Order: sequence, then C-alpha cells, then structure tokens
Amino acid sequence: MKIRWGILGDAGIARNYVIPGMQVGKYSKVVAIASRDIKKSKKTAANMGIEKAYGSYEELLADKEIDAVYIPLPNHLHVEWSIKAMEAGKHVLCEKPFALSTDDVKRAIKVRDVTGVKIGEAFMVRTHPQWLKAKELTTSEDFGKLRAVQGFFSYSNFDSSNIRNSYSSDMGGGGLWDIGCYPVNTSRFLFIEEPTRVIAMAEYDPKFKTDILASAILDFPSGQATFISSTQISPYQRMLAVGTKKHVEIKIPFNSPSTFPTEIYYDDSNVEQEERNRIIIDTCHQYTLQGDAFSKAIIDKTEVPVPLEDTLYNTAVLTALYKSTKSGNWENVTI
Ligand SMILES: NC(=O)c1ccc[n+]([C@@H]2O[C@H](COP(=O)([O-])OP(=O)(O)OC[C@H]3O[C@@H](n4cnc5c(N)ncnc54)[C@H](OP(=O)(O)O)[C@@H]3O)[C@@H](O)[C@H]2O)c1
Repeated sequence: MKIRWGILGDAGIARNYVIPGMQVGKYSKVVAIASRDIKKSKKTAANMGIEKAYGSYEELLADKEIDAVYIPLPNHLHVEWSIKAMEAGKHVLCEKPFALSTDDVKRAIKVRDVTGVKIGEAFMVRTHPQWLKAKELTTSEDFGKLRAVQGFFSYSNFDSSNIRNSYSSDMGGGGLWDIGCYPVNTSRFLFIEEPTRVIAMAEYDPKFKTDILASAILDFPSGQATFISSTQISPYQRMLAVGTKKHVEIKIPFNSPSTFPTEIYYDDSNVEQEERNRIIIDTCHQYTLQGDAFSKAIIDKTEVPVPLEDTLYNTAVLTALYKSTKSGNWENVTI
C-alpha cells in the first residue's frame, strides 16, 4: 500500500529533493501538486511524473483521492495551511520550522486532536541512519555520559527575493529559523531532554533585518550545547557530540548526500585524520526515508517521527534564542 501525497506549492525543496525522494518510496507516491500559478504546477507535474496539477492549494485539499499533503511553503504560512489541510481530513508533513510561536504549535495540536489526522515536522535528520547511529553511540556505555554538543551550519545567500532574507512581512526569515533549527533539534535529540535556558548573540543584516550570524548556548540538565548559524559566510556544516569517554562527529550532518555514502567518526582521543575510526553509512536518500517513515506511521497507525509535541520544544528554544539576541540575557525555555 502507498499513501497518496499532494504537494502545496511549487517549492525548490519539493522539486529538487522531496518529490524525487518520495517518488521512489516504498510506501509513498506523489499524485498531485498545487501552485498559485497553474502553469508552474503543470510544468512540474509533467517533468516529475505527477498525475494532477492544481492552480490553487484549496483545490488540492478538496481532492478526495489525496491522503496526505507535504507543505513546503514560506515559514509564516506553515501553521495556517497545516490547519486547513487537517480540517480537510489530510495527514500533514510540514516543513521546518513548523511554527514561529509556541501558541501556534498549540493551536495546531488542538486541531490534530479534533480531526485525528497525523501531523509532523519535516526534520529529515531524525530518520537518517547516520543520526540513528549517532544516537545509538551517544547512549552506549562505551561512550560514557553525553556532556557537550557543538554544531555549525552556514551558507551564503544575498538574494533579497529569497524567503530566507525576508523579515518585513514576518515571513520567518533569518538564519536561526532556517538552519539554526537543525543544531537545536539534533542537540535535543542526542541529549534526550530539553534545555532549561538559552543565550545567543546575533548580527542582523541592515537591509534584510534578518539574523545573518548567530552564536548560541543551550543549557541542558546534563550538559551544554553550542552552535553557530550563518547565512552570509562560506557553506559549512558539522556536528560533534562529546561524552565522558568518547566523541562522535557527523561529517555532513544535515545536507547528507543521496548518491554516495556518508560517514561519522567515533574516537576516544585526538587522533590524526587518517587514523580516525570511521563508520560508513550506506548511500541513502534522506527524503525517501522521511516520506516512507511518515507514510508507514499513517498505514500502521503509529506515532510520526517528529510529532508536534517535539516541535513545541524546538519552537520554544528558537523563540527564546531570538529573544536573547535582543535582550542580551539568558532566556528561559518555556512552552
Ligand atoms: N528540509 C529541508 O531540507 C529543507 C530545505 C530547504 C527548505 N526547506 C523549507 O522548505 C520551505 C520552502 O523553502 P524553499 O527554499 O523550497 O522555498 P521556495 O522555493 O521559495 O518555495 C516556496 C513556495 O511557497 C509558495 N508560496 C506561497 N506563498 C508565498 C509567498 N507569499 N511568497 C513566496 N512563496 C510563496 C510558492 O509556491 P507557488 O508559487 O507554486 O504557490 C513557492 O514556490 C521553507 O519552510 C524552508 O525552511 C527545508
């Protein structure tokens, strides 16, 4: 059995990664795409072997032959369209960051509980084998107790028309929302607990008004996490988790490749690069795995990989970080 998916918006992430990934899924099939511009949805449908193209999101939601929708809209539209989709009886996989406030997550949880559909945030890292392996290692006796996580995620984007550089209409632009959300999410995933308070400093772009360089500290009950996110420096990404006995480093933690294997390092000392203990993770398409895990949860009536209860804390951490960039103080993480 395959879940029949519809896509809301002719988004770059959908065309380039998520649709190709889901089209080869075991439990997923993309059967429709909607755009505000029918020409765009027709073109993508023709190029990607999708049966139906719609000229509005509403028309797609009214299609009774669609079981679930994937929402890759700009950040400020995620909650609004997730709620409309749930009310139309569709299961929802929504892009990160799901919401820009914890109140909005709570609103969506209420609708989920009334409609009984499945909904989750599209943090594909949570179903990637390299992160499942990292978690297996950091929770092992051999690793000791996890005490510190350090992350980095950056790219360079000066395009004023890109949704990430748009602050003026509250679209949820900025580096912390766009990529800082990943080290927050994966630090929480590894610690298996929530930070109680956070502090961050950020530089804001004078024209875009979005955060373009941010440094953050998350105070967890069992240790500390730090990370830097930036949208205007050279592209780089890495995550490191250090325990009392060993450390694990994820080489390409977020944009992991779909055409060659990736690797993580697992060592107990400062070894030379060539001597590192490499764990090879077989080639996989992280968006195929994400789509299939979600579809399987629908079929088996089990919990989705990243439920809104998890989203609630990620959103609380990110909003506290933004607050701290303005106040200069530690901010409590409250839901
Ligand atoms: N998980 C990941 O790996 C990953 C990677 C990249 C991005 N994302 C997330 O995916 C979402 C989309 O990112 P993207 O880079 O794909 O964006 P994008 O290419 O700009 O696509 C966004 C789409 O939203 C629709 N839209 C509706 N209202 C809009 C408005 N007011 N302004 C602009 N677009 C509007 C447009 O589709 P129509 O014109 O066809 O209606 C547009 O194509 C974001 O939430 C981002 O955080 C996730």
